[in-house]
Amino acid sequence: MAGGAIVNNNGKAEYQGKMTLFVFLTCLVASSGGLIFGYDIGVSGGVTSMDSFLLKFFPSVYKEAKERVSTNQYCKFDSQLLTAFTSSLYLAALIASFVASTMTRMYGRRWSMFVSGVAVLVGSALNGLAEDVFLLILGRILLGVGVGFANQSVPVYLSEMAPARLRGMLNIGFQLMTTIGIFVANVVNYGTAKISGGWGWRVSLALGAAPALIITVGSLFLPDTPNSLIERGYKEKAKVVLSKIRGADDVHDEYDDLVVASEESKVVRHPWSNIRKRKYRPHLTMAILIPFFQQVTGVNAIMLYAPVLFKTIGFGNEASLMSAVIIGIVKVICTLVSIFTVDRLGRRVLFLQGGTQMIICQIVVGTLIGIKFGTAGHATTLSKDYASWVVVFICLYMAGFAWSWGPLGWLVPSEIFPLEIRSAGQSITVSVNMFVTFVNAQIFLTLFCHMKFGLFYFFSGWVTVMTIFVALFLPETKNMPIEEMILVWKKHWFWGRFIADDDVHVGNCGKNNGKP
Ligand code: BGC
Repeated sequence: MAGGAIVNNNGKAEYQGKMTLFVFLTCLVASSGGLIFGYDIGVSGGVTSMDSFLLKFFPSVYKEAKERVSTNQYCKFDSQLLTAFTSSLYLAALIASFVASTMTRMYGRRWSMFVSGVAVLVGSALNGLAEDVFLLILGRILLGVGVGFANQSVPVYLSEMAPARLRGMLNIGFQLMTTIGIFVANVVNYGTAKISGGWGWRVSLALGAAPALIITVGSLFLPDTPNSLIERGYKEKAKVVLSKIRGADDVHDEYDDLVVASEESKVVRHPWSNIRKRKYRPHLTMAILIPFFQQVTGVNAIMLYAPVLFKTIGFGNEASLMSAVIIGIVKVICTLVSIFTVDRLGRRVLFLQGGTQMIICQIVVGTLIGIKFGTAGHATTLSKDYASWVVVFICLYMAGFAWSWGPLGWLVPSEIFPLEIRSAGQSITVSVNMFVTFVNAQIFLTLFCHMKFGLFYFFSGWVTVMTIFVALFLPETKNMPIEEMILVWKKHWFWGRFIADDDVHVGNCGKNNGKP
């Protein structure tokens, strides 16, 4: 064994499980990128339901919405124009993530975070000051650019900085911040909607600048990851950063791993054609399917629908706030559960348990709603008790999401790609996620109007498919050093056949089957 890192009884280097103050702080700052994502997801729903905002920018939508009051519980007013405005962010993020991929690879992870912060700062300012639709949409596109850059670089940054045995915990900081961002945006909207001058929406939109400021300034002080430093030729600097984040002088084994990974990646000139190679088939499959699956859990649709149910249990005008607060608290607590269990129980246990919980809850919710509203949608209104049960199952569903597909949908892709395709792979993940979020937002209300309570069964069908998929095809990645992940695929009953013996190059740690 090179070096001589202190090894514990399990044969693992101690520093691979050590939380240093330095790594904690760097990851805390970086994960604030999740705030940008969360705030921007959360803010638009509230703003687009403020009369003053609609009258200023979308008067025709305002008029139509007031005229068309439907009693059908399934078919709510649906404006394509408004959803297009909301979704322009996702399309911009989709494209931006590809640009971010090159930047992250060639100039380092932290510059992508910086660009993300600046784009959101400018976007929020434009939105807050907007006098016409053009500026409003331009601002929203810039927010999308920010989200694309943040989601492309932050999860990778966190996974590379973290010691192997705390990688899940540190990476999920990103999802925790996303959840907090959504929550804060909802509460802010609730407050600003009450501002009588009709300019409350400006405050909501402009406040997006706050999380952007944290990541913009923070990224200037963050060190880049050792992986990226070595990849770009800064070997000595990488060694210093590695010792600092691991809190140990003797980090030779891990350093060797990084150097071997970087040698491999230097041979690769075109990550985009490379990622199509046979040996990367498992990675490419996961880069596409994991974000796709995360979105067809239906989480965003159910978050949109929840306030309607809260209204029914008697919260009246406070329904949207109560929905945001209750669901927000459930999600934050359950994301913390994930943070503290993911590196012990592993990713698969959380995926399988959370998935099963979500399937059951969706079937129960669909059935409860179906019994009352039937297919016509005009039937009896829900009694308070009845609706409370629906809300309980919605919360249990959210809990399941919050410790499984929510965080793992970002964690797993960021930790499975080898260095040479990591940036490209992550941008595929981001763009698939954004694309499916976009499509979902665009068609959700129409789908609900046509499929009625069956929409919950539809999503539960997807969660069943993805849970079976995880059981069969997703290997456990907990505790495995990121640059040795190839060993996990090589050992897998199905994916192993795509990886030739020659494809397995790892440093000193890996020669001993992943154990230092
Ligand atoms: C998803 C978002 C979702 C959020 C909910 C994220 O992981 O990517 O689409 O809105 O979780 O907390």
